[in-house]
Amino acid sequence: MRDKLQEIERLAKEELSALMADAADKKEALENLRVKYLGKKGELTAVLRGMGGLSAEERPIVGQLANEVRASLETLIEQAKTQIEEYELNKKLKEEEIDVTIPGKHGEAGRLHPITQITKEMTDIFIGLGFEVVDGPEVEYDYYNFEKLNIPKNHPARDTQDTFYINEEIVLRTQTSPVQVRVMETRKPPIRIVSPGRVYRSDAVDATHSPLFHQMEGLVIDKGITMTDLKGTLELFAKKLYGEDAKIRLRPHHFNFTEPSAEVDVCCFSCGGKGCRLCKGEGWIEILGAGMVHPKVLMGCGIDPDEYSGFAFGMGIERIVMRRYGIKDLRLLFENDVRFLKQF
Ligand code: PHE
Repeated sequence: MRDKLQEIERLAKEELSALMADAADKKEALENLRVKYLGKKGELTAVLRGMGGLSAEERPIVGQLANEVRASLETLIEQAKTQIEEYELNKKLKEEEIDVTIPGKHGEAGRLHPITQITKEMTDIFIGLGFEVVDGPEVEYDYYNFEKLNIPKNHPARDTQDTFYINEEIVLRTQTSPVQVRVMETRKPPIRIVSPGRVYRSDAVDATHSPLFHQMEGLVIDKGITMTDLKGTLELFAKKLYGEDAKIRLRPHHFNFTEPSAEVDVCCFSCGGKGCRLCKGEGWIEILGAGMVHPKVLMGCGIDPDEYSGFAFGMGIERIVMRRYGIKDLRLLFENDVRFLKQF
């Protein structure tokens, strides 16, 4: 029996060192080994069960030896377990190690498109004057884009605003002016709104033309609004946009939906009015169209022209952007080349 016990001890030790050398899951293998030798149905227990057949002298000796073998194996297994745990902890720490000295990964921060930046600057000025910003559809009824603005079918004014037709009645809007109609139809004066957005015309692309561009519309309707209010408002706007020295002038013009109508120029901010390349020697730069809302348009929207009057204006945003940043070619604004856009 002693031999048997020593044999068990030897085998267990062998198996243990083999396990520590190459078992894939050492923890599990170790537990299996413990059960195999020391468990209730284990080999050592089996030997102890057979002790009944020993003589009275032999029993304590073999018993002591069995206890020694058990204690020795338990200690070895316990040590092996600690070793495995330490090894696994170190491995985990190593895997999760963070090198704080490695340079970080930079995501490139985007920014607002120059058109968006200037649009925001423009609307902010009008918000400061008590205007509200409203939106209108880019896919618009012919009725709102032309008809209700006093531009009937076959009117020559349509020639300069040829557009893209969805069908007979629906177009891509050629101007932000239909928003005037939509607002007047649904609201009661006093009205004070601006409406920036995309507009479309069927123009061939070149350095100064694009079939898609941006405008900002303005509309004020109240009792006793006059041309003076129009001029004062636009002068204030020009000063905020171009600086305190900015001056404007109104030139007579014609729009179907305003009467009287004017084109508004700003004194050239490059030469101060003397005439230069930017203003083509004029001293003035045209920035917008404007006028007093036509009584016919007011009536068409259910507003009594004897009680109310108002003014409207509409300006192209690209031109303002291009002059602000000295951009010579309109196409650059739409190519979305980040190397270009990054500069603003
Ligand atoms: N919608 C006109 C254009 O695109 C500009 C304008 C707006 C003129 C409002 C008068 C009043 O040319």
